Amino acid sequence: MGLIRRFSDLRKARAQAARTAGRLDDPAAAFDLAHERQLRALQQVRASAAQLVAAGKRLEGQLQQLRLRRTRLEDQARRSIGEGREDQAVEALTDAQAMDRQIEEMHGRVHQLGELRGQLEVTARRMESLRPRIERIVGHVLDGMEAAGSPADFHAAVSFPLPGLVMCEVLGISEADRADFLRWSEDATHMEHPARSRAGLQSLWRCLGATIERKHAAPGEDVISDMLAAGTADPAMSDDAIAHLASGLLFAGHGSTVAVIDRGILLLANHLPSAKQREALRRNPSLAIQAVEEILRFASPLERQRGNRRGGLPRYASVDLEAGGARIQSGDLVMFALQDANEDADVFRHPAHFDVTRQENPHLAFSHGLHFCLGASVARMELQLLFGQLFGRFPTLRLDVPLEQLRARADRSAGRPLEIPVVW
Ligand code: HEM
Repeated sequence: MGLIRRFSDLRKARAQAARTAGRLDDPAAAFDLAHERQLRALQQVRASAAQLVAAGKRLEGQLQQLRLRRTRLEDQARRSIGEGREDQAVEALTDAQAMDRQIEEMHGRVHQLGELRGQLEVTARRMESLRPRIERIVGHVLDGMEAAGSPADFHAAVSFPLPGLVMCEVLGISEADRADFLRWSEDATHMEHPARSRAGLQSLWRCLGATIERKHAAPGEDVISDMLAAGTADPAMSDDAIAHLASGLLFAGHGSTVAVIDRGILLLANHLPSAKQREALRRNPSLAIQAVEEILRFASPLERQRGNRRGGLPRYASVDLEAGGARIQSGDLVMFALQDANEDADVFRHPAHFDVTRQENPHLAFSHGLHFCLGASVARMELQLLFGQLFGRFPTLRLDVPLEQLRARADRSAGRPLEIPVVW
């Protein structure tokens, strides 16, 4: 039975339960239910199973990794139904229509990005000009952590602000607005608090509008100015469309990079297990190129600890096909299990071994094909600049608590650390 049909059964169960009043006590449930809508929205933009099939030999290998995985939604819903808690989840969803709208809006934006990939890739080619500017930001962020002194929360001092500041640089947000911009973008992700999230989005929106106004008068070396220039030849690039694209880039690029920096430090600053790898990187900063690819490929030690909640990229089959022994019908939702593909023993030698010197590393952390990450070059550059100098500047940097004691976010980002105490 296709997952889509299962979803519609769930909807019926929830419609029934909606008549009962109740309060939400589990924000993750609200996100998962909203996520279902997101998945349905994706049906219009992702028709990629057939494209995946056609995408060449390498991908054919990865197709064996396609699984009809059960989504977190299914697990959560089954648990909720089992515990008689559907009414609570439904109530939350009904209360949080604003949250749904935000998610749908965000999807609209990313869809638009796909359509405008042509224009944006022109800007991507100029990303190299960003190197010295990103290097300066990395330096400032590390200066800040050093000045505040050991111990520190690496997540708050580095992982969270760095990608946000880089996005500000990429987009052309003025220095004066950056601290607020970061705060608003953090607020916007708190979808378990719809009012906070909405206020964050509105502030971001106003700031983007003001930035666009400024860039009309005084363009700079940034993506918003590039899009404004492209807009003179393309009526689809209105100021409004540019603001949508800019916020789409921000949301696509911020959290994902934060997660990879967090993961990198957990993998590298974990006392004994990573001592050799850390030392290799400290002695030879140019290893950062390989080290970053390995961090991208490898699963977070927190995810490993907490069992398999790794999910995947949603795709809808546009033809009937068979993959990995599973029959997939046209229209079925398929989760493309990136992490499984990144640990495929047919592709990677010793896939469960974290090795910063790994030479061949054709991982799929940035996806593949039509929806390949638009910000991969910026993300790689930022990560290489960070991990290239981190252990040179902080040779004794270590986690201050055992991995098991790290507190994870309780909301939709479950499995992501709330803080990463370090000493040096
Ligand atoms: C290490 C950090 C990052 C990782 C691991 C990552 C990963 C991904 C993945 C897996 C996808 C594909 C989603 C899918 O196929 O459904 C994607 C898409 C995308 N990423 Fe990234 N990303 C990162 C950083 C960034 C940055 C910094 C930006 C912006 C500058 C960005 C912008 C985008 C956009 C716009 C898309 C949508 C492309 C499309 O659908 O055509 N990402 N990313």
